[in-house]
Order: sequence, then structure tokens, then C-alpha cells
Amino acid sequence: MIAIGSDHGGLNLKNEIKLFLIKKNIQVKDYGSCSEESVDYPDYGHDVARAVASGECEKGIIICGTGIGISVSANKVPGIRAALCTDAYMARMSREHNNANVLALGGRVIGAGLALDIVDTWLSSKFINEGRHRKRVSKIDDIEKKYLKEK
Ligand code: RB5
Repeated sequence: MIAIGSDHGGLNLKNEIKLFLIKKNIQVKDYGSCSEESVDYPDYGHDVARAVASGECEKGIIICGTGIGISVSANKVPGIRAALCTDAYMARMSREHNNANVLALGGRVIGAGLALDIVDTWLSSKFINEGRHRKRVSKIDDIEKKYLKEK
């Protein structure tokens, strides 16, 4: 199950991505927003991130105008590695090297064709769970644990 969420700036792209995933028989859970009314991107980044961090959804896709605010918000949730990608190479690397579990996109930055290519590549790429990549992602986890302990 893929969790998806956006603010108003990512709404149109979110709808395109949802259709694309449904056509591919991939289950999607939509965390909103569902209208063009101006809303706050942290609310949607948080909801999708929580769905992924809790294990309710396997991965997440979040979209705001630039993809920046919503990815920064999602990355505050422990266990989340949200990657803002603007091309398929970044999407593949974010999975293979960084084990990104949330993909962030900018609905006002890229067109639907490129976005769907990014989504397709991201979903089909796998983490290289060994050697330097495993070590580096473990170091990310260590940073998170350090600050959680200090609270
Ligand atoms: C909303 O106008 C816009 O700020 C938001 O979609 C996003 O780009 C923030 O990072």
C-alpha cells in the first residue's frame, strides 16, 4: 500500500499519480488534501510519514508546490527518509543508496510525464542493502537515535 498526500500546490499532480498507480494495480491510500483550498503542507507530510513509519503503508509519496516544505516536514518523523527528486536518476539513487521510504515531488516544478517516470523508477528500484550503503543509512539512523535519546 502506498500512502499519498499533498497540499493544494501538489493536488493536480497527486491526482495524476493516483490514477497512474491504480492503473498499475498498486493500492493507494490518499491522505488528502482533496480540494484546491489553501492548506498547510506540514499536516499532509506528517500524515503520510506517520502512515509509513507505523508500517501501515509500505512507502509514501508527498507533493507540495516545490516538494521542499512537505519533505522537510516528513523528515521530522523518526524512521522517515523522504527524498525530493526532480529526475529518474535521483529517484533510483534515493532507493538504491539512501533507502528512501518517501518520495517527494514538486507539483509546480515538474510536469506530469516526468513525475510519473520518477514514480515508476522509484517504486521499481531497490535498496542495495550491503556494504557502504548499509553502513551510511545506519549512520543516519544513529543520528536520529542520538537526538531522540537526548529529549
Ligand atoms: C504553498 O503555496 C507552497 O508554499 C507549498 O506548496 C510548498 O511549495 C512549500 O514548500
